[in-house]
Amino acid sequence: MIQTIYYKDDAVYVLDQNQLPAKVHYEKCLTYQEIAVAIKELKVRGAPLIGVTAAFGMALAIQNFNNEKNLLAFYEEVESVMRSTRPTAVNLFWAIRRMRRVFETHLGLDQVELAKIMLREAQDMYEEDLRINIDMGEYGQTLLGSDSQVMTICNAGALATCGHGTALGVIRAAHARKHIQRVWACETRPVLQGSRLTIWELMEDKIPVTLITDNMAASVLRDKNITAVIAGADRIAANGDTANKIGTYGLAVLARQHGVPFYIAAPLSTIDMSISNGEEIPIEERNQDEVRMVRGTYITVPEVDVFNPAFDVTPHEFIDGIITEKGIIQAPYIKGLKAVFSEGGDV
Ligand code: MRU
Repeated sequence: MIQTIYYKDDAVYVLDQNQLPAKVHYEKCLTYQEIAVAIKELKVRGAPLIGVTAAFGMALAIQNFNNEKNLLAFYEEVESVMRSTRPTAVNLFWAIRRMRRVFETHLGLDQVELAKIMLREAQDMYEEDLRINIDMGEYGQTLLGSDSQVMTICNAGALATCGHGTALGVIRAAHARKHIQRVWACETRPVLQGSRLTIWELMEDKIPVTLITDNMAASVLRDKNITAVIAGADRIAANGDTANKIGTYGLAVLARQHGVPFYIAAPLSTIDMSISNGEEIPIEERNQDEVRMVRGTYITVPEVDVFNPAFDVTPHEFIDGIITEKGIIQAPYIKGLKAVFSEGGDV
């Protein structure tokens, strides 16, 4: 299984996803600022991986702390740099909170010890994420019959996580049971996570996949006997409204129109119970050149004005189930999500 991030000899190495599928290259990050840039520039992407990467970045910050400033003030600065990288992916804020708890608990230790403990926490998060995805996959595959044809968008796979994937984890678990006839992957403009990453990852695993452009989704859903659409999530509000890669909302509406079930697969760390609905989810707007250009070449008039939201929000009414590591949550989500977070509450 491809490793998306690792720590070695005082540095964090991130798989540079901007270079995929042409090249498997790990970028060496020596500072938390380099980690923040890697997240911002999509070298590392996907909500769960963004969170874990930020955690590694914070451990790196403590490792490199040079006593020039007050440690607490320095740590707050690090947190604020991390927070500013990708505002929609709530796993980022979840990871920052988790690292803050570890930092505060061990604040009295000397710097080397503190850095070691924070690094261990980041590594634990990495390992936990893999286990979570495997559990999610096992639950999710129960929704898929034999001969499934699954449509997906963006990359919610091993590359977006610490292995196995969320939406692609469900597909992997179903494929292991020989239940996947074919995956239909939307290319996912503007930066093509579908065609560059999902296609690469599924083909590496020999899972049958067909690439389509985003504007083919409607006719494929009508004509190709698609049995489910599964997407990942960047943030799920308490009522089930879900932010995911731009285009997900459109797919959900199309799936409903064609009687195809639409599922979200996401870990509990993607659920934001502090917001009641999707209107409160901050949507990241990215550089206009992502739309004007493809792989460094202008494909339009360079001066054109562009709207480039990275995510959209799918209203919960269009979601037929939220697959988590604790089970599948069904509507009414407000009740199911609360239950899964309340003590002893299971789904
Ligand atoms: O902009 P990206 O590539 O970080 O967007 C990723 C997605 O939209 C994923 O579907 C989501 O983060 C879930 S990844 C398991």
